[in-house]
Order: sequence, then C-alpha cells, then structure tokens
Amino acid sequence: MILYFSGTGNSEYVAKIIADKTGFFLYSIKDSIKKQEKAKIHSGDPLVFVVPTYAWRIPKVVEEWIRSTDFTGNKKAYFIMTCGDDNGNAGKYLEQLCKDKQFVYMGCDSVVMPENYIAMFNIPSEEESIQIVIHAAPVISQIAKEIKEGGYLHEKKVGITDHLKSGIINTGFYLLFVHARKFLVTDSCIGCGICVDACPLDNIYLEDEKPIWANNCTHCMACICDCPTQAIEYGSASKGKRRYHCPL
Ligand SMILES: Cc1cc2nc3c(=O)[nH]c(=O)nc-3n(C[C@H](O)[C@H](O)[C@H](O)COP(=O)(O)O)c2cc1C
Ligand code: SF4
Ligand code: SF4
Repeated sequence: MILYFSGTGNSEYVAKIIADKTGFFLYSIKDSIKKQEKAKIHSGDPLVFVVPTYAWRIPKVVEEWIRSTDFTGNKKAYFIMTCGDDNGNAGKYLEQLCKDKQFVYMGCDSVVMPENYIAMFNIPSEEESIQIVIHAAPVISQIAKEIKEGGYLHEKKVGITDHLKSGIINTGFYLLFVHARKFLVTDSCIGCGICVDACPLDNIYLEDEKPIWANNCTHCMACICDCPTQAIEYGSASKGKRRYHCPL
C-alpha cells in the first residue's frame, strides 16, 4: 500500500508513479487526517510512505498519524521523502518509529523535487520545476524497482550536520517557525473556500467569506498555493513569489 501525504503535489506525484509501477493500492493520509477518526489499515503488501521533508524529518503530523493508526497485515515499511535538497538524518527517527510500531524498517530514500516552502525560500520557476521533476524520474523508477523486488532501500551516509539538522534544528524549527500567525488575506479573496478544503488539519474557517487561521498549522503550504486569486500572503515573505504546485 502506498500511503502518501502532500501539501503541494510533489509527494502525490511520486506516490502515483510508485503505485503504478508496483501495482500497490494508493491511500491518502491527508484524507484520513481530515476525517478526524482513528484509522485502521490492513495491507497485504508492504507499507510505502511517501511524504515531504519538513526540517529534515517526515512531517510531525504524519508521524503522529502513523503512531495513532492501527496497522494489520504486512509489517514491512518503506519511506520515500520528497525534498527540495536533502532529508538529513531522517532515517534514524524512522527506524525508532518502526521499532515502536513493530514494523520491519526497510529503509528511507529521498527524491529531490522542486522546493515548495514559499513562506521561507524562493521557489524555482515553472520551467526549472519541470526540469527538476523530469530529473527525478530515474530515481523514482529505481526506488519502485527495489520495493517491488522486496529489497532494502539504499541509505545515504549521514554526517554530523545531518544529525544536527534532523535533531536540535528540527525541534527549534517547530517551536519557532511553524505557526499560522503570519497568514493574511488581501482584498483579492472571493470567498470560494478552496483554502478551507485544502488544509489537512482543518485549521481554516471562513468568517464573512474571508479565511481565518486557527492555531493548528503544519506549514504544508497548501492554502497559500491553492488559492485561485493569490489572495493569501505569509507576512511579507511570500510577496511577489509565484505559487507552487507540482507541474507534472
Ligand atoms: C515546512 C517545510 C519544511 C521543509 N523542509 C525541508 C527540508 O528540511 N529539506 C528539504 O530538502 N526540503 C524541505 N522542504 C521542501 C519540501 O520537502 C519539498 O518541496 C517537498 O517535495 C514538498 O512536497 P509536497 O509538494 O508533497 O508537499 C520543506 C518544505 C516545507 C513546506
Ligand atoms: S482560497 Fe483564496 S479566494 Fe478562496 S476563500 Fe481562500 S483566500 Fe479567499
Ligand atoms: S493552515 Fe495552510 S499551511 Fe497550515 S496546515 Fe493548513 S493548509 Fe497547511
């Protein structure tokens, strides 16, 4: 089973290709989180998690969902992390998660895709994004092949910087940066509610046909990137930047 979470489409794109190449069933973690019920998953096939990298680890919201979900059937677990650059020492934390869940850890690999973190960084142009996604194709195919053959995923070597990034920096990142207080809406808003539907955590509601953000945000960038009139800004950080969605 391919279980995916995606804010702006990169991980969904990779998950769909791997599902196609392996023949495994596709499951949306975001839809499950939105239902706000304790999920029960039975899979005869290995579990293949395809998720973005948030501060050199899998998104906290996905880890919490895995921890709270009941899994039966095949206990082999693969992790594929899409990223703009690298996933640090994420594997160490995934091994521990697998121990806690009594999964068999089959490894973690990363796929470089276009950067989507519009609240903090510049994102590549449409043309550059297409090139990055095209370059990812052989990596995705290789990962699908390894999973289909039942082998372990290739793990990269990690150094001291990776330990720091996935450790103390990840902790500080969530404490200092992951909040919704800087989101604001401009007069371009047409009250369509697309941002409300886009949010995996139901953190947005409309009041007088304008979005209001509550306190439960994971910085997935879906609301700001999905708005059809670009009416959402993240303070001044997003001003003048194009909005991102996986181009293929
Ligand atoms: C909150 C946040 C944190 C991120 N942290 C990292 C990171 O640590 N390393 C990295 O290479 N990319 C990082 N990125 C980039 C995304 O992981 C990357 O663009 C990913 O493919 C987005 O996937 P999605 O479109 O499925 O949401 C971050 C993006 C966001 C929104
Ligand atoms: S998606 Fe954009 S236009 Fe639609 S309600 Fe949200 S902010 Fe307004
Ligand atoms: S408020 Fe926006 S950025 Fe935060 S979790 Fe919801 S959709 Fe993602």
